[in-house]
Amino acid sequence: MLSTSSFAPPQVDLSHHLSSEARLRKPNPMKAIWKLTRRRPNMVSLANGDPHFSLYPIRRVEFEMASVDEVDPVASWRKAGPSAPSTKFVSSSYEPCALPLQTALQYSHGAGLPDAQRAVTELTNFYHSPPDHVCTLTLGNSDGITKCFRLLGEPGDHFLADEFAFSSVTNVPFAQGIKWVGIKMDAGGMIPAELEKTLENWDPARGRRPHVLYIVPCGQNPTGSTLSLERRKQIYEIAQRFDVMIIEDDPYYYLQYDSPSAATTSPDTPFVPSLLSLDVDGRVLRIDSFSKIMAPGMRLGWITSSAFFHEHLVSYTDSSTMHPHGFGQMLITEMLHGPHGWRIDGFDRWVRSLRAEYHRRRAFFLDAFAKTVAPTGLARANPPEAGMFVWIRVEIEKHPRFRADLRRISGNPTAPRTNVKELMEELFERCLDSGLVIMPASIFALSADPKHDDMEDPIEDRLNYLRATFAGTEEAMEQGLSILAQTLREFFADEIRAIA
Ligand SMILES: Cc1ncc(COP(=O)(O)O)c(C=O)c1O
Repeated sequence: MLSTSSFAPPQVDLSHHLSSEARLRKPNPMKAIWKLTRRRPNMVSLANGDPHFSLYPIRRVEFEMASVDEVDPVASWRKAGPSAPSTKFVSSSYEPCALPLQTALQYSHGAGLPDAQRAVTELTNFYHSPPDHVCTLTLGNSDGITKCFRLLGEPGDHFLADEFAFSSVTNVPFAQGIKWVGIKMDAGGMIPAELEKTLENWDPARGRRPHVLYIVPCGQNPTGSTLSLERRKQIYEIAQRFDVMIIEDDPYYYLQYDSPSAATTSPDTPFVPSLLSLDVDGRVLRIDSFSKIMAPGMRLGWITSSAFFHEHLVSYTDSSTMHPHGFGQMLITEMLHGPHGWRIDGFDRWVRSLRAEYHRRRAFFLDAFAKTVAPTGLARANPPEAGMFVWIRVEIEKHPRFRADLRRISGNPTAPRTNVKELMEELFERCLDSGLVIMPASIFALSADPKHDDMEDPIEDRLNYLRATFAGTEEAMEQGLSILAQTLREFFADEIRAIA
């Protein structure tokens, strides 16, 4: 594996952020012995129950992947279908390759196979140049984030996140006894002043002040918002001041677009620097994935962290999932280092061409929205700067049954003022009945604690949003948006008719 001893110790001791679980975990003793096999070359091993590779019923794996020699490789690949130019990478027990099959399919280390770990480290250095960080392979971002929650979270803790956040992830730490504190957002994502306010005014009666921030800086799921460099710097500075660890979940990093008025996203458009690249303390745990840039079923990603947290992540992995599967590790190693691989410049051409393709899909979606939904006057779309999602605001105030006086009627000063939640539930049901699945804001909302949080503007009154994706086909976008337009018209007009 890549040596971690060559990395300077983190400048700031952040060991107090470790959970009791992480402190109590003992390194897997079998894996500790495995490390010793590198003490000298040609060690004879009678140690492990490793099946000999001659008994693997497999000796060669060939991956046929898109050629990246074209100017716009994604367009060529997509348009020409089976006849599109391709390149083949082989991992084999007997042929020259970057990661021989007998190594790739053997048991290995919790950080991943050294060659695969080197491949993702090279990617991380190329895009983020982090000081003193180490990469740990994972089974994708969901796995990486879950591991970070276990690494840092204590029962009774509060974690910070955007007030609308990806619920597949925010659902996870509830079972650890962790609660969420949602931070207000605007079209530019998390508002740094709101984060600061929450930390500054933290009531110790709630327990320890939050020490973990989970954030999606690009194409945030579900709102599609992207943090400017200015906001990233402010958030990092606040995290330093209040001693907060940052889990930077960034699967849409490579899908950052030029403005919707541009014909395409230029390959030269720079990526906004990540939080990791600003990290001088070792307080950012960055989570990357191949899901959105290659294929989600690959189940492969990586965490970039300080060497200290890396050691703990490895220890957890060695005593739980073990390293990720060899097939994915073979693929990325051959892709980045193999004799016929894309190499880093080919990978870069692929992701820059991929974002031009998603730029086109975003344009298609926004155009279809302008033709179908916008003319109803009942919903607006917020064009995202990155990612795959459009956050659609339903103009719920125009609904004949909309009420804004519920708090006065109930006499409860922390209750919602409006019936937005109920109306949006009805709209969601109507969409389903009309054959459209679209994500309601309610499933992403982190509810506030009325005892402690400012209930001036409760999230229940701001659930009038829908999350739609432009990742699918043009046909799905056209059909889906025309169903949405029709359903909105009916939902708002039925009532007018009923009242009249
Ligand atoms: C913000 C965010 N994090 C994590 C994931 C899951 O990624 P992975 O497939 O790598 O587990 C997604 C997938 O939609 C996502 O949008």
